[in-house]
Amino acid sequence: MHRHDQNFDQKYKEHLHRKIAELKKERDAIILAHNYQREEIQEVADIKGDSYALAVAATKAKNKVIAFCGVLFMAEGAAMLNPDKTVLLPVKEAGCPLAEMITVDKLRKKKEEYPEAAVVCYVNSSAAVKAESDICCTSSNAVEIVKAMKEDKIIFVPDKNLGRYVREHVPDKELILWDGYCVTHMRLTMEEVLKAKELYPGAEFLAHPECRKEVLELANYVGSTAGILKYVKGSSAKEFIIGTENGLIYQLTQDNPGKKFYMPTNEFVCANMKLTTLGWLARSLEQMMYVITVPENIAVKARKTLSRMIDVMEAKK
Ligand code: 13P
Repeated sequence: MHRHDQNFDQKYKEHLHRKIAELKKERDAIILAHNYQREEIQEVADIKGDSYALAVAATKAKNKVIAFCGVLFMAEGAAMLNPDKTVLLPVKEAGCPLAEMITVDKLRKKKEEYPEAAVVCYVNSSAAVKAESDICCTSSNAVEIVKAMKEDKIIFVPDKNLGRYVREHVPDKELILWDGYCVTHMRLTMEEVLKAKELYPGAEFLAHPECRKEVLELANYVGSTAGILKYVKGSSAKEFIIGTENGLIYQLTQDNPGKKFYMPTNEFVCANMKLTTLGWLARSLEQMMYVITVPENIAVKARKTLSRMIDVMEAKK
């Protein structure tokens, strides 16, 4: 018997499922997973969702330990919002290149250039950048958060595509954009979408706002991963071309057995999101690694930007 024996793989998976279930009890842990995680992780997650839903879920969890299957900024957010809980990120290298496209020093310089502007920072950012901002937003609420700001001038960091999308929806405010982008969403080209539309003429095209402007212009719907899931459930269309990371296909298929989903390119994979495997999750719970903490001098400010976002959105309910 060797590693590629399917029987062996199945047995190993069952072993890991049992181990994770035992460790969850032992540690009093809950597993949160982002919609881009591998199928094997989504299968064992207690709660799945987009960035916003997971941030809120972390604040509501009663458990002592949160195993966050996502990327570093998500685990940092959960840690800051829940200082009394232990937050684990199973793979410490799971980062976000977009979050690294801005530094605190550069943001401070920008603020000096526009002292009258407020800073709205996309959740895909470091705790230090959040600490330097006035409020956070996610892709599901960026338009509403910017609309809710009393300032007319907004420095929007670090995603220029999301920023441009917000600018189009909030024309009465001046948005100063940062030159950051998601390397995964930027990969999708207009040509690839047009090709997919030609192949599947009856399909609707749904895109994440981190996509390029020319790609978003082709979309029937633009929204966060949770937004896309909700849209598909409510749509009478039977076929969809998905303009976001391929991990979303799992939940889309689970929720809509009669509908078909196509990826416009095989390249739509976030390598960081895919780092977490069942084996690493089991190790994480077993060895309590990697515990994510944020220095309190940063957390005290960054927590406020996250809480403000949640407060604005909760008040709208
Ligand atoms: P969502 O909030 O839409 O899940 O997006 C998270 C993300 O990181 C997109 O790249």
